[in-house]
Amino acid sequence: MHFFTLGNSVKIPAVGYGTWQSPDSQITVNGIKAAVSCGYRHIDTASIYGNEISVGQGVSECGVPRSELFVTSKVWNSDRGYEKTLAAFEKSLSDLGLDYIDLYLIHWPASEHRFENWNEINLGTWKAMTELYKSGRIKAIGVSNFKPHHLRSLMETEIKPMVNQIEFHPGFTQSETVEFCRSNNILVEGWSPLGTGRMLNNPELMKIAASYKKSVAQVCIRWCLQHNVLPLPKSVTPARIAENFSVFDFNLEKADMDLIDAMENFGGSGLDPDYVDF
Ligand code: A2P
Repeated sequence: MHFFTLGNSVKIPAVGYGTWQSPDSQITVNGIKAAVSCGYRHIDTASIYGNEISVGQGVSECGVPRSELFVTSKVWNSDRGYEKTLAAFEKSLSDLGLDYIDLYLIHWPASEHRFENWNEINLGTWKAMTELYKSGRIKAIGVSNFKPHHLRSLMETEIKPMVNQIEFHPGFTQSETVEFCRSNNILVEGWSPLGTGRMLNNPELMKIAASYKKSVAQVCIRWCLQHNVLPLPKSVTPARIAENFSVFDFNLEKADMDLIDAMENFGGSGLDPDYVDF
């Protein structure tokens, strides 16, 4: 197994199974079973994905003990603040059918664009996360889509974020945020490592992939790993689920890493945490 180690020594399996846009249905239950059977031990969901019940069913039916799995969920924007975060956590836990969560994240920062007291809101959410962490019901806590200016005040608190999950794929590397996280011992996770599929027909990536006899998806995932970014590819298709985990038997050479690093943004989501309207 390949792992990253968080600031509190918790080990996190190095490729996670993403479930954004996976439905709350047997499709997701089957996807998790397929993922676990080919080696994934890390599943990423969020309350807003609306699939926590199916994710929980997949976890309980996959045949691997709960203690060997790593499950992440996230508190949604409408549940920000101390009280609401505590309640949102209980709901996620109950929908997942679990008695602890491995990693719980603030899904998006409250931003200045929408809230005068954005920083206080984020600190209130963080206070609830901190309490849940200290009670042992969450093994690690962190954030998602936070830029350095959103993170700074959280870095002054008793328990610092251990993870920041951000959009990360070729052409969209958020280097300032990644650098900030690296220097503060925050693991970066990458959502949409395939650009929600938009990377897959890129001629430059196709050429690099062919030279390793790998797919573009595998190159994108490997490129994340070699940047010490934990990729979270999403698929509900068994062959793709397996393909996306078969990334530990090759190494991208520096010249190819550099080529990919230099790519212009061609498949970004356009979602800027400072300006999103949700
Ligand atoms: P599907 O779930 O129907 O298999 P991202 O992880 O960047 O958000 O990308 C997810 C999208 O990419 C989904 O539409 C998924 O489709 C598709 N996808 C995932 N893995 C692969 C793969 N190995 N080859 C082609 N498409 C893939």
